[in-house]
Amino acid sequence: MRQVGLVRWLGRDRLWRTRLNGWALFVDPGPQGGRPASNGRSAGRAVPVASPVVSSSPPFKAPVGTRDVLPPESRRWEAMLTTFATIVEAAGYGLVQSPLFEDIEVFRRIGEGTDVVGKEMYDFVDRGQRHVALRPEGTAPVARAFVQHRPATPWKAWYATPCFRYERPQAGRYRQHHQVGVEAIGSPDPDLDVEVITVGRDHLAALGLRRVTLLLNSMGTRADRTRYTEALRGWLEDRRGHLAEEDRDKIATHPMRVLDSKRPATRAATGDAPRITDHLSDEAGAHFERVQAGLASTGTDVVLEPRLVRGLDYYTHTTFELVSSALETAQSTLVGGGRYDGLIESLGGPPTPGIGFGSGIERVLLACDAEEALPAPEGAVQVFVVDVAGGEAARDLSIELRRAGIGAERAFDARSMRAQMKAADRSGARVALIIGEQEEVDGTVAVRSLLGDERSQVAVPRQKVVAHLGELLA
Ligand code: HAM
Repeated sequence: MRQVGLVRWLGRDRLWRTRLNGWALFVDPGPQGGRPASNGRSAGRAVPVASPVVSSSPPFKAPVGTRDVLPPESRRWEAMLTTFATIVEAAGYGLVQSPLFEDIEVFRRIGEGTDVVGKEMYDFVDRGQRHVALRPEGTAPVARAFVQHRPATPWKAWYATPCFRYERPQAGRYRQHHQVGVEAIGSPDPDLDVEVITVGRDHLAALGLRRVTLLLNSMGTRADRTRYTEALRGWLEDRRGHLAEEDRDKIATHPMRVLDSKRPATRAATGDAPRITDHLSDEAGAHFERVQAGLASTGTDVVLEPRLVRGLDYYTHTTFELVSSALETAQSTLVGGGRYDGLIESLGGPPTPGIGFGSGIERVLLACDAEEALPAPEGAVQVFVVDVAGGEAARDLSIELRRAGIGAERAFDARSMRAQMKAADRSGARVALIIGEQEEVDGTVAVRSLLGDERSQVAVPRQKVVAHLGELLA
């Protein structure tokens, strides 16, 4: 029997699981577009509500920087999640679901000086006086779960999750965005870096994206990074006057971020800045070379980008991004990731290396739009039951069909034949099953094709209709 697209591809259990994953995680991030109060104590807190009043204000809309995802667009989300789950599970990654909010200290370990933590977090004090935050990203929660449960290593986890960042909304940048990602915890082996990067690359390729470049860098060990940061700070101090004014404060706090600046004055002044890859220890250099050799050997093209710093503080050794040339540069990163060999320890665990990536679902779909990839898959409705003889047949037959694995929809409210046939056309079904008074008397169902202009019709005995459709739709 024909099974519709995703179901046939994955099997029902997996589809359902993926659905749960993607869909059950959507939460309301707080008051409409509301900035968390500066003391972080009001956002998300329940406030006593007066009895309902009729309001003359405009109807509610999704909060600023958030979006509703409705069919048929949501079917592309399902397809994307399914593709991702298939690829990462084939590489041994298992789904991890952890809470959307954590003790704020978990996220502070990402780096207090980063924008994500310092400026963009949705945090609040809950009714039990616990200071918590909605997750701005997926790595810290997985690392916290690792420390708590101590699974056998390497522990290979994947997730699909909303993330919350109070950013300035624009196309491809939202206050609630969604990521799929993986984290592989417990092995320093550079071949694991190659695996993680190729999984991300293969995911984008499986969606049909071609205009994608892999940018690669190494941040070295923590000690390399500290040594390099000092050298760079001195170099930048000497050129302070040439940098864009907005970037000058970063010399003291985050000199490496100056290199990441998109401002023309800063870019011009830092063209020949010292490169971190020239300051790597032997250990970090050997690691980086092995990663490059692995990518070359598996046919993955790489652009070395010594300015690739990334916006989170936990990175060591490999950092990488997969960037789309089909999107505006400011939002063109589809996948970002790297190693974080100190994060687990900073969360109270034993020294344990880790590597992973996160990929923004909205951005990936924007890139798919730009490249005309991943069209919305067909809906799952194959048959539409049209009943103008009281509705009992539609009620019973649609349930019988679904139980037999045939997607079935019907009209409600005793609508006219014309209205039901219109609904059948809109539903995407291939076949209408029509039950009128004559069919009711004869114990038959009229099976009518809805494809093209040809509306051929045959009468089939009611008892045989499921078997007949099984063959017709196969
Ligand atoms: P990230 O680069 O901050 O890294 O985010 C990962 C991806 O999420 C970005 O490359 C982008 O596609 C998407 N993204 C981020 N912010 C937004 C936004 N405001 N609106 C839309 N999309 C956005 C991380 O989050 C790390 N946890 C990645 C990682 C995992 N590193 C190691 N393991």
